[in-house]
Amino acid sequence: MREWDPRAASAAEIQSLVETLNAVLAADLPDDPPWQDVLVREYLAETMHGERRISWVAEDDRLPEGESKVFGHVSILLLGDIGVLEVLVHPNLRRRGLGEQLVGVAARRAYLEGFSSIGVEVIGGTSAIAFYEALGFEREYVETRSVLTLSKLDWDALGRMAAGIGAGYRVEYHPGGPPDELLEAYAQAKLEAQSDDDELDLAPRSSDPQRLRESLETLHKRGLKPYIVLAVHEASGAVAGLTEVVVPAQHPERADQYDTIVVRDHRGYGIDRAIKARMLFELRTAEPDLLEVQTWNAQHNESMLKVNAELGFQPDRDWYEYGADVAQLVQTLEPTD
Ligand SMILES: CC(C)(COP(=O)(O)OP(=O)(O)OC[C@H]1O[C@@H](n2cnc3c(N)ncnc32)[C@H](O)[C@@H]1OP(=O)(O)O)[C@@H](O)C(=O)NCCC(=O)NCCS
Repeated sequence: MREWDPRAASAAEIQSLVETLNAVLAADLPDDPPWQDVLVREYLAETMHGERRISWVAEDDRLPEGESKVFGHVSILLLGDIGVLEVLVHPNLRRRGLGEQLVGVAARRAYLEGFSSIGVEVIGGTSAIAFYEALGFEREYVETRSVLTLSKLDWDALGRMAAGIGAGYRVEYHPGGPPDELLEAYAQAKLEAQSDDDELDLAPRSSDPQRLRESLETLHKRGLKPYIVLAVHEASGAVAGLTEVVVPAQHPERADQYDTIVVRDHRGYGIDRAIKARMLFELRTAEPDLLEVQTWNAQHNESMLKVNAELGFQPDRDWYEYGADVAQLVQTLEPTD
């Protein structure tokens, strides 16, 4: 096992990591599209200002460095006071203690850097649940992932939803991100939504304009192309609602629906349906390879779940956030002999 910087990695190493990731996906999430070896280095290397991602690989050390086969990978993204962990072990090499070693090396680094807690996203129905629970991680939050298949959509019904917005609102489409002149109003809408949200945030929202601009730049650098649809309240110029979808260069057949926000004062005017429906029309044209869109919702968010069901999203899996105290984790993982 060695610390590994994706910026300096050979093309063969990156390719080997993608192969392992695809073996993991085939074993754990067989309906998810495999990754292509496109902008993977950038995906792994780029972070926002003030954030750092440190990685290690487990590899077959009989091969010369640079040619090695990567069969395990861990990264820890250090942000604020929390470290966000991602671990994967090739399905053929599981239950040999490799996962534990990978978490151990990342946890020790987080401890040395003075971080107090570690969070991780854990996918329901996979061995990762038993793994993190065995290490003493505790479940802190649950969401449901839902997937929409474009070929199954009722486009006539969607057309009615897209048109069914209350008077006094204008819908705008912005591939690549909101334009500069709207950044302030856009950030304001995000800020208002943040105060409604009690989620433990492993992916903090960018709610000031400067941070938002940087966050969009980071997405682009990582190969994640953002698309935005907004509802503007014409009388005030406020952003009343927004929805964000990202199409990753690594798997352009499945997009991620990020935030959808309807600001409290503007609820009840059909904005949620209209902006999401409009987004699907735009994506159909802009991204010919796109087959599916996935999104995550808290189970208590009933109104959004209802709209998603009307649009054609089907619940797929539970998605959890687990957390652990770093000092405790380091102690649990300390070799006992
Ligand atoms: C979770 C994961 C990292 C575990 O790797 P691993 O090398 O098999 O883990 P370890 O051998 O260190 O397991 C440590 C302990 O965790 C528990 N554990 C791990 N897998 C388990 C399973 N399938 N069932 C029950 N317990 C399990 C056991 O207590 C195990 O100790 P034991 O083998 O002595 O009983 C691996 O399964 C993985 O890569 N999963 C996919 C991760 C993922 O979902 N990524 C996102 C999608 S791409």
